[in-house]
Amino acid sequence: MNPPVHIAIVMDGNGRWARSRGLARTEGHRAAETSIHQAVEWCGENGVGHLTLFAFSTENWSRPRAEVSLIMSLLRSFIRRNLEELERKDVRIRAMGRLEGLPAGPRSDLLSAIRRTEGNGGLQLILALNYGGRAELADAARRIAAEVASGALDPSAVDEEAISRRLYLPDVPDPDLVIRTSGEQRISNFLLWQSAYSEFHFPEVLWPDFRKEHLDEALRVYSARQRRFGGLA
Ligand code: IPE
Ligand code: IPE
Ligand code: MG
Repeated sequence: MNPPVHIAIVMDGNGRWARSRGLARTEGHRAAETSIHQAVEWCGENGVGHLTLFAFSTENWSRPRAEVSLIMSLLRSFIRRNLEELERKDVRIRAMGRLEGLPAGPRSDLLSAIRRTEGNGGLQLILALNYGGRAELADAARRIAAEVASGALDPSAVDEEAISRRLYLPDVPDPDLVIRTSGEQRISNFLLWQSAYSEFHFPEVLWPDFRKEHLDEALRVYSARQRRFGGLA
């Protein structure tokens, strides 16, 4: 089987990682940076074109305010600490989600990182922030409704392609492989539309312990799968 072009990861288990060490949950979020770094390097070394990381969901606002602000400030420090190296590695930073709903500081750092790396042709590192699959589909539906109302779009032209083209990053191919760490086996509102035919892998490892060897294992598991897309092998 061809290697995956796009890997998407639900980075889960930060809180449990910290609690199991007698630390505050937020320490787990801090520890996650090393895992992100390893995943980016591994993708570069293995010719993966797109890496999408689920960093903050539309539902994560329901967490304690202090945890939410720490995650937002970690986003800023991640960008500050890593931007130069990512640039050097030709990584293009992108984001998907309701970015207008992010606090002003993190949003402006994110947007400037996106602009600065726009011309890079290597790995596309896509951060899913204030992202929800249902929100994305609702946003696409609203755009379509507006275009129909203005007469720019005929209702009979609303097909799967028309919806795909109005998602947050329409040029990005669907993920071949979706990994969720920490042993939880659910989608939690990630890439609902795009993962229609993705392969899923649910390792037990908690995200802060996730290393290149776990991606080697994920690749082995993926390579043994048979993708049929509804057809016959
Ligand atoms: C994932 O780790 C990070 C985010 C959702 C931002 P969690 O914080 O969900 O960790 P657990 O699932 O509580 O262990
Ligand atoms: C999914 O994890 C969101 C991210 C990893 C950013 P959650 O920890 O929020 O999901 P649930 O609540 O366990 O389903
Ligand atoms: Mg979780």
